[in-house]
Amino acid sequence: MLKKAAVIGYPVKHSLSPRLHNYWLKKYNIKGEYTAIEVPPEGLAEFISTMAANGFCGVNLTIPHKEAVMDLLDYIDDNAKKIGAVNTIVVKAGKLFGKNTDAYGFSENISSSHHLVISSSKAVVLGAGGAAKAVIFALQQLGFKEIIITNRTRARAEELVSSYQRTLVSSITIAEWNDRNNILENADLLVNTTSLGMTGKEPLDIDLSLLPKTALVTDIVYSPLITPLLAQAIERGNPTVDGLGMLLHQAVPAFEAWFGVKPEVTNELREYVLQQLS
Ligand code: ATR
Repeated sequence: MLKKAAVIGYPVKHSLSPRLHNYWLKKYNIKGEYTAIEVPPEGLAEFISTMAANGFCGVNLTIPHKEAVMDLLDYIDDNAKKIGAVNTIVVKAGKLFGKNTDAYGFSENISSSHHLVISSSKAVVLGAGGAAKAVIFALQQLGFKEIIITNRTRARAEELVSSYQRTLVSSITIAEWNDRNNILENADLLVNTTSLGMTGKEPLDIDLSLLPKTALVTDIVYSPLITPLLAQAIERGNPTVDGLGMLLHQAVPAFEAWFGVKPEVTNELREYVLQQLS
């Protein structure tokens, strides 16, 4: 029987996930299909309540559904509860299980491309939106001692930090957005989780002068692949990791849960997915 999965979002037509999952389905010779389905917020409950009957083994969720879907599921795993968002649903015996694989995707992306010595490390996170939640969760799991968040809207960063209070293993502090250049001193990792630098948006306005040259700079924006932030970091000699790997790695546990094979993230896959961006 054909196994069906999909990404649902609004909008969703630019998603790279169908290209990615269909590449793996072909590679591992699995009878399945993965499509992109546009579901507006008002259609979410109906889609979710009928997905098992409609033959889906699971779905990915993207903007704006990752938080709203949490009230519509039978079970939610601990990581997704702590992050406060679900990006993957797995259907098992007719029940809907929610997971979050974004934090795993972020960690795997940086640790598979760069050797980070985490003990006593300091990370600076730009942004406090949906993507920042998974990134900060991942940084805590990786064992970062000091995490500094800065966001244009300070209240949003405060809300995010208070939602983490019970699982706190790292010190998390908030800095003013206007101070973003100064907090880079002694940092080991700089992560952009804002949408700044994405094709069609303004570039991120930041001066990296105080950032140590050994610090890793990573961006969750992958279109363009080399964002103005990464270009600036490369020019001054910092190691960098682009954002496409996070997308590729977050798909691994979802594919495995739906189709029973742990797929590999390879350079060939990266190149294949990148063709859709160009
Ligand atoms: P996502 O779920 O993809 O993280 P989001 O929740 O809309 O998307 O968050 C986008 C992030 O980019 C937020 O941190 C946002 O800052 P605000 O909380 O102040 O809105 C940040 N962002 C977007 N445009 C920005 C801009 N022009 N300057 C600074 N930050 C910006």
